[in-house]
Amino acid sequence: MAAKILVVDDDPNVQRVLTYTLKQEGYDVLVASDGAEGFKLWSTEEPALILLDVMLPKLDGYQVAAKIREEETTSHVPIIMLTAEREIEQRVRGLRAGADDYLIKPFHQAELLARMKSLLARFAPREGLVGRPLLGRVAAFYGAKGGVGTTTIAINAAIALHRELGRKVVLVDGNLQFGDHRVFLDLGLDRKSILDVVTATSIDADIIKSVVVRHDSGIDLLLAPPSPETAELVTEEHIPLILENLRTLYDYVIIDIDKRLDEVNLKILDAADVFYVVMTADLSCLKNVRLVLETVGHLGVEQQKVRLVLNRSNAFTGINVKNAESALKRPIDHQVLNEYRGAISALNSGSPFMFTKADSPLGRSLLDFARAIDKTAATGDAPQLAAPAR
Ligand SMILES: Nc1ncnc2c1ncn2[C@@H]1O[C@H](COP(=O)(O)OP(=O)(O)OP(=O)(O)O)[C@@H](O)[C@H]1O
Ligand SMILES: [Mg+2]
Repeated sequence: MAAKILVVDDDPNVQRVLTYTLKQEGYDVLVASDGAEGFKLWSTEEPALILLDVMLPKLDGYQVAAKIREEETTSHVPIIMLTAEREIEQRVRGLRAGADDYLIKPFHQAELLARMKSLLARFAPREGLVGRPLLGRVAAFYGAKGGVGTTTIAINAAIALHRELGRKVVLVDGNLQFGDHRVFLDLGLDRKSILDVVTATSIDADIIKSVVVRHDSGIDLLLAPPSPETAELVTEEHIPLILENLRTLYDYVIIDIDKRLDEVNLKILDAADVFYVVMTADLSCLKNVRLVLETVGHLGVEQQKVRLVLNRSNAFTGINVKNAESALKRPIDHQVLNEYRGAISALNSGSPFMFTKADSPLGRSLLDFARAIDKTAATGDAPQLAAPAR
């Protein structure tokens, strides 16, 4: 069946040329002349891809993209923004609003078609994903040492699981006092947080749904409290309730936790199906990983729940993967490449690289990691699906 392409542009010439080109390529074409109509056609016609002009009557292209991303749940329609402006800010704005790619007018037909094909292949609906039961899997991310990249990996893995693998994902900022997610994802202190869950009269799925914040990438976020002194209101009693409710709503509950092995974090570890320990190849990290492995062993956490993730694996530290494995007497389960520029520029712009630069070496490395996570979930140890707390 021919893929349905929605063209949203108010210029009749552009409409005509695009319709002609796309039909020649065998696509079905739908045309909308303003943003509101474009949004409506997206919801009724379910196109396979959208070509979206920026300057549009009623709703502009950014607003249309943002509205679509807000409404989408498990699906993700690829959007190519057509812009007349060359400025980098415009491009960033488009990508932030939820576009997957952009083209500057006038563009060459061949370039348009190539980009469309690549996005259509990347976001092709995966068989078996529609109508399937949720995985309900809780994955905790823990840094063997501060600054090893735990937050970077948790955020980008969450985005990859959603955008590239079609999973429904919530990302929880478990660093309750000094959570970084608002900064990494450019969200203000006014956004709701886990504090709004624990101060509600009862904790249930409806409260959680009203508190999570939808990020433009399509993942949901349960943010940390806006100030450190309020973090203590979240206690160990709340954790199992929150996590069991989140399990019923998502395929993956990804939690970025801080270094303390306090009561709250121990409850998270209890509930987690898998525990990713993020490390780099240096002596103090190896020492800490050994201690963490020992401690979780004493606490009765099954060893197969623990996975080691070596970040910046190809950075020169004088210790290679083999050395690290023999020091730890166990294999490193996953590796993520070192790309300081990519990681830091994403951090400073508030747009994760998995969102804006999925095709970079770092993006591809993270995607491999996300695939491995998903494979373990599908084939390995079954998730412990407990009954939701009421
Ligand atoms: N794969 C990578 N390649 C290069 N730089 C990276 C990589 N991953 C993370 N970084 C950089 O390392 C720094 C620390 O990252 P991040 O804040 O994610 O670490 P963290 O372990 O969560 O730190 P904290 O202990 O403060 O919570 C950031 O500047 C980030 O850009
Ligand atoms: Mg962190």
